[in-house]
Amino acid sequence: MKFIYELFSLDGKVAIVTGGTGVLGSAMAEGLALAGAKVGVLGRRQSAARQVVEAIRAENGEAMPLKADVLNEAQLQKARERVLKQWGKIDLLINAAGGNMPGATITPDETVFNLHIEDFRKVVDLNLLGTVLPTQVFGRSIADNGKGVIINISSMAASRAITRVLGYSTSKAAIDNYTRWMATEMALKFGEGIRVNAIAPGFFIGEQNRRLLTEEDGSLTPRGQTIIKNTPMQRFGQPHELLGTLLWLCSDASNFVTGIVVPVDGGFSAFSGV
Ligand SMILES: NC(=O)c1ccc[n+]([C@@H]2O[C@H](COP(=O)([O-])OP(=O)(O)OC[C@H]3O[C@@H](n4cnc5c(N)ncnc54)[C@H](O)[C@@H]3O)[C@@H](O)[C@H]2O)c1
Repeated sequence: MKFIYELFSLDGKVAIVTGGTGVLGSAMAEGLALAGAKVGVLGRRQSAARQVVEAIRAENGEAMPLKADVLNEAQLQKARERVLKQWGKIDLLINAAGGNMPGATITPDETVFNLHIEDFRKVVDLNLLGTVLPTQVFGRSIADNGKGVIINISSMAASRAITRVLGYSTSKAAIDNYTRWMATEMALKFGEGIRVNAIAPGFFIGEQNRRLLTEEDGSLTPRGQTIIKNTPMQRFGQPHELLGTLLWLCSDASNFVTGIVVPVDGGFSAFSGV
C-alpha cells in the first residue's frame, strides 16, 4: 500500500495547462508544480505565460511558458515539440482555456432570437474545439506513453440551464460528453493507464465574469445575488479550492476513476433553490 503522500504525488510528471494564464488555469498550474510536476503554462500571450512561470519558479517549481492559441494546431504542435525536447514526455493535460465572450451573451432585453450566430460559433469553437484540438496534439503523446491523465474543465452551465449564455452552456455540455467519450476511447484502445475526467467549477470570480457578478464597488449584481442564493455555501469559490480535486484526479489516488465530471461548487448543483 502506498503512503498517502506518495499516492497524491506528481513528482517527475510533465503537465500542460492550457489557459494557464487565466484565473483558474494559473492556480492549477501552480498547484501542479507544488505537487512536483513540471508545468508547461500555455497561453496566447508569451508575457502572461512568463509571469505565471516566474511565480512558479519563485516557489521552487519547474515551469516553462508556451505560446499557443488552442484553436491553432500548428502552434500547439510547436508547443508539444518544445516540451518533448526539454522534458521528454507529457503525462498530464489540463484543458483550462475557455469561457464566454461578450457578443455571445444574450442581453436582458433580448431573447434567443437575437442570438448572434457568429459569436455563438466562436464560443462553441473556443470551448469545444479548444479542448478537442489540444487533446489531439498533447493526448497523442500521452497515448504513446500508455499512461497519463487528461482533465477537462466543465461548468455548472453544462447540466443546468443558466440564462443568457447559450453558446457557453451548449459547448460545456459537449465537454461533459466528450470527457465520457474520450475516457472510453482511451481505456479501450490505449489501456487502463490513460484516464480522462472533468472538473465542473461552480462560480469563481474571474476577469470574464467579474462585471457580470459584481458591481464596481464590489457589491453583488442581481445575477451575482441569484447565484449566491442558489449556492448553499453562500459564497463564490476561491481558485485554490479546485486543487484538491485536481491533484486527486491527476495522481494515482484516482487510478480507477475515469469518465466522470466532479462538481466543485459549494453545493450549487445539489440545491433545488427551495
Ligand atoms: N470562473 C468561473 O466561475 C468558471 C466556472 C466554471 C467554469 N469555468 C471555466 O474554467 C476555465 C478557466 O476560466 P477562468 O475563470 O480562469 O477564465 P479566464 O478568462 O481567467 O481564463 C481563461 C484563459 O483562457 C485563455 N484563452 C482564451 N482563449 C484562448 C485561446 N484561443 N487560446 C489559448 N488560450 C485562450 C485566456 O487568455 C485565459 O488565460 C474556462 O474553461 C471556464 O469556462 C470558469
